[in-house]
Amino acid sequence: MAVRKEQIMAALALVAAPGGGALTDANVLSDVVVADGKVFFSITVDAAAVKQWEPVRDAAEKAVRSVPGVQSALVALTAERSPGAAARGPQPAHVATQPRAAGGHAHAHPADRVQPGIPGVDAVIAVASGKGGVGKSTTAVNLALGLRDLGLKVGMLDADIYGPSLPKLLAIKEKPQTVGGNKLKPIDRYGLSVMSIGFLIDEETPMIWRGPMVMSAITQMLREVEWGKLDVMVVDMPPGTGDAQLTMAQQVPLKGAVIVSTPQDLALIDARRGVAMFNRVNVPVLGIVENMSYFLCPSCGTRSDIFGYGGARKEAERQGVPFLGEVPLHMTIREKSDSGLPVVATEPDGPHAKIYRDIAIKVLEQIKGGAAAGRSAPKIVIEA
Ligand SMILES: Nc1ncnc2c1ncn2[C@@H]1O[C@H](COP(=O)(O)OP(=O)(O)OP(=O)(O)O)[C@@H](O)[C@H]1O
Ligand SMILES: [Mg+2]
Repeated sequence: MAVRKEQIMAALALVAAPGGGALTDANVLSDVVVADGKVFFSITVDAAAVKQWEPVRDAAEKAVRSVPGVQSALVALTAERSPGAAARGPQPAHVATQPRAAGGHAHAHPADRVQPGIPGVDAVIAVASGKGGVGKSTTAVNLALGLRDLGLKVGMLDADIYGPSLPKLLAIKEKPQTVGGNKLKPIDRYGLSVMSIGFLIDEETPMIWRGPMVMSAITQMLREVEWGKLDVMVVDMPPGTGDAQLTMAQQVPLKGAVIVSTPQDLALIDARRGVAMFNRVNVPVLGIVENMSYFLCPSCGTRSDIFGYGGARKEAERQGVPFLGEVPLHMTIREKSDSGLPVVATEPDGPHAKIYRDIAIKVLEQIKGGAAAGRSAPKIVIEA
């Protein structure tokens, strides 16, 4: 039996808002999306009132779940700060800071919304690029392993729901188990806790995820997965800087973003867009990695700068963001990556692993100090 939106609204009308009155009359609900027994909507409230609304969010989720035919319900509580509200200083952790990165985006937003962090997860970082195929996923996996080698507990989330890569890059074929009722347990690989939409869908399934479906898939992977305690969660983002990416950048409570680019001009223009996108949502850019920086001939050792080496470093300087390192274009990286044996895990003493570990050190420095300094909780600002 298909669930109808009216049934959901009727259930929500029985949930009380903090001041009394029905939740449905409080003017805080987004559009309610009902698809295949899955229900998704958000409650947007003033940042100062978030605490009072948390039990309401729980009650709303429970009420929706009890409607016959509902398989899962996701209710996001987002906080909105009205102009000038910063002066009241309701909750410092929720007050958006402007990005340190240059780029001219340090303007006031008409309304700032805040994503709550993920319990137990200290920092969420995104690995992104403006353009596809520049090596984001490969960089994300090896960076995550590099952070693991620094003694951190690391998780990975594959947010590329159009073309998830982590099942392949980490050779994961098994399906995640359910724990404690309706939460999923991430898959452990090389000491990383990994979750990908690719674990849940068949490779043959056409991926027509749009608008709210994209949002709910990401939110579900963030909040309905038993991540446990993590020092860092590395998110492999889909390519591009379109609406879908922006939505995702907004849905994930990011501490910062790592931009991957190849050295050539075209890719750099896209990298610039990537930096600008994160600036727009007030997520600090932790730095730029130049991937496929130069080619080292495996047989003669000669170095060729196929894509014009050094472009990303210059671009990082121009944008005023840290340059995190150069990864060569190398057969081993490709072969290992594509067969689910990432170099940092399988050739830890090799030259490539060292490069990724050095990048991991720089990223960690940025998380601990640098770009994210003074930010006690991950936060996201969404333009109204
Ligand atoms: N430094 C490198 N040297 C050699 N091959 C590489 C390197 N980095 C990535 N590759 C290869 O390039 C291809 C694309 O890499 P990857 O999937 O990581 O890119 P992506 O940016 O995540 O792509 P998409 O935009 O499709 O998500 C893969 O076959 C990968 O093995
Ligand atoms: Mg990818």
